[in-house]
Amino acid sequence: MRANHSNGHSLDGEALPEPFRAKMVEPIRLLPKPEREQRLAEAGHNLFRLKADDVFVDLLTDSGTSAMSDSQWAALMRADPAYAGSRPFHDLARTVNDVFGYDQFLPVHQGRAAEHLLAATLAKPGDVIPSNHHFDTTRANLAAVGAKPVDFPCRESLDPDGRESFKGNMDTERLEELLASRAHVPFVMLTITDNAGGGQPVSLANIRRVHEIANGHRVPLILDSCRFAENAWFVREREPGQATRPIPDIVRDIFAAADGFTFSAKKDGLANMGGLLGLRSPEKMERLRQRLILVEGFPTYGGMSARDMATVAVGIREAIEEAYLRSRIRQVGLLHRWLSAYGVPVVRPAGGHAVYVNAGRMLPHVAPEEFPGHALACALYREGGIRSCEIGSLMFDATPDDATAGGSRRLELTRLAIPRRVYSDNHLDYVARTAIRILESAHDVHGLRITQAPASLRHFSARLQPL
Ligand SMILES: Cc1ncc(COP(=O)(O)O)c(C=O)c1O
Repeated sequence: MRANHSNGHSLDGEALPEPFRAKMVEPIRLLPKPEREQRLAEAGHNLFRLKADDVFVDLLTDSGTSAMSDSQWAALMRADPAYAGSRPFHDLARTVNDVFGYDQFLPVHQGRAAEHLLAATLAKPGDVIPSNHHFDTTRANLAAVGAKPVDFPCRESLDPDGRESFKGNMDTERLEELLASRAHVPFVMLTITDNAGGGQPVSLANIRRVHEIANGHRVPLILDSCRFAENAWFVREREPGQATRPIPDIVRDIFAAADGFTFSAKKDGLANMGGLLGLRSPEKMERLRQRLILVEGFPTYGGMSARDMATVAVGIREAIEEAYLRSRIRQVGLLHRWLSAYGVPVVRPAGGHAVYVNAGRMLPHVAPEEFPGHALACALYREGGIRSCEIGSLMFDATPDDATAGGSRRLELTRLAIPRRVYSDNHLDYVARTAIRILESAHDVHGLRITQAPASLRHFSARLQPL
């Protein structure tokens, strides 16, 4: 693939290779095609139901799938498992203070536990919680307490082909209208980067503006900060006035422009498990702490083992290292350019953690209610043993005009999420070639219908049948 791209699509230029090398490897294997077909049928055509061993290149998610560094493994081995006040907890507290600038936080087992604590403690039935774009677990946690999550994505984000720099931004006019209305808004959220909307970043200017508007109405801003480091990279690359600033300074500014944050350490924490919840308000923090003890654990470990906390304490610092972030963003961009060079429709520009294929456009013969994004995901597994994830009508179960569920901006996407420090460019080359092969006979890809599904978060466990 790379050899074919010397005509202006050469991707590496002067770029340095990854700033790490392999010290341990994990074998992977490609099952023969008839076996892949069989496994897919046995899994009810739901890729979440597959055994990971039956997957060749696993791009289902970038969450919890990072390769940890030797420093993280060393910290894990040195961790003392004390119930109260363990060394890893204090290491983590130092990291949170140094990197995010927060002096209080709660350790939770993963991002959605932070969302649950926030929703269950600070939101009540009828409340409205706006965001640029809530992710599925955030939306579900808010809905579970009877609150109404609403999305105010910026207009640019509606166009998958537009190349604007910050398509993750919030539409601040709509936010102002909501806050000026009679709606009760306990907090505003911003997802950085916008996972459900193409992995697009939010500008520092937009974060600051949202913060200013929200605080003007005495409403706090909470960041869903899973991919804060990748967002900070794009701020430096694309935002006027930021080009010469160190990443850690930009990260501090991002968190300084908020009153709290939820964080899944499974993304830019470079850890396999863990999460954090930070709030500046001591009074609200105390309410959440009491709930943490009830549902997660004692406040100096919450939902994490000391070993998990040790890996997160190191991982957050590694995630803002210049050389690491550069290679991370470069690799995602590489797959994006390979696919688009061969006509596979992708959401532009490249996001920070994944490439989003516009499956609705790639498979125009598959109607939204037949889940084109999922049909493509199944085809990628069938053709190449590649696992990916639909982000579209299957994940966001709502009518297309239901703006509260992102319906007004609905795109039928297949997300190729790239685990951090795991796959080589050769793996991505294989993924690109498989997708291009599918594009060449796209009319052979059929939609699916649901045969069985739970009431909430149906994409995780639904069973489907090809049409
Ligand atoms: C933007 C966003 N928020 C929240 C979450 C939930 O985090 P976790 O999977 O750790 O519960 C995710 C996970 O993918 C996410 O991408």
